[in-house]
Amino acid sequence: MRPGLTLRAVPDPQALAMLAADLIAAQVRAKPELTMLVATGSTPMPTYAELGNRVQAGTLDLSRVTVVGLDEYLGLEPDDPRSLWDWTLRSVIGPLRIRRSVRFGASGDPGRACAEYDAQIAALGGIDLAILGLGPNGHLGFNEPPSAADAPTRVADLTPESLVSNRAYWGQDVPRRALTAGMTVILAARCALLLVSGEHKRGILHRVLEGPPTPEVPASLLGGPGVSVLADRAALGPEDAQPVSARLDSGPDGAS
Ligand code: F6R
Repeated sequence: MRPGLTLRAVPDPQALAMLAADLIAAQVRAKPELTMLVATGSTPMPTYAELGNRVQAGTLDLSRVTVVGLDEYLGLEPDDPRSLWDWTLRSVIGPLRIRRSVRFGASGDPGRACAEYDAQIAALGGIDLAILGLGPNGHLGFNEPPSAADAPTRVADLTPESLVSNRAYWGQDVPRRALTAGMTVILAARCALLLVSGEHKRGILHRVLEGPPTPEVPASLLGGPGVSVLADRAALGPEDAQPVSARLDSGPDGAS
């Protein structure tokens, strides 16, 4: 496996959600005013649900956390229920009782929306924790390949692969452009959890874990002591095909 990456292997999506929620809760306990960058997509939803359960049960308080949206389709009305922000409201901000947040503004000028977004993150002192999903083409947010480490917050044209995977939510009428936190914002996060689940991610996960860092697989540019990849068995593949570190990391129940 690539040096500088920590891989935590878990048996299934539920175990992934529990481990991710444990790691997020520990970070919030250490710094209650955490600034947290959050992906939408299907992979982190069980994690957000688990965090919501803990908030509901009174065992976790996220009320001082600031949530930052990771990306947004371009050209939607601010209250479009199909927007990624609306998804963030439903899955994160509401259930986790978050009071402070940063989103891409709906100004007609995308360049200005990106500059304001970056300025708000800078004013918060940067991102403490990024919760990320892995695109089928290796994208992070909508940093589509190729995206280098210095790719800024910007308007991105979605690749055919992203358009196809977004059809699950949009039907044929998929937006073709989006605003995304730059690789600069994501890679500067003090901690990052890349959540990966399902057999359909196996090939691209292998390139993240084993391949050389390359703009052709933006997620392969993640690395360093604060970065953990949390992946389930379906994504990692058969045990004998997994990187040695994943096998060593696994506890008796498969969780690290
Ligand atoms: C969404 C986002 C995307 C997703 C990625 C994986 O805000 O940033 O990069 O994280 O496309 O999506 P799922 O989890 O649906 O496979």
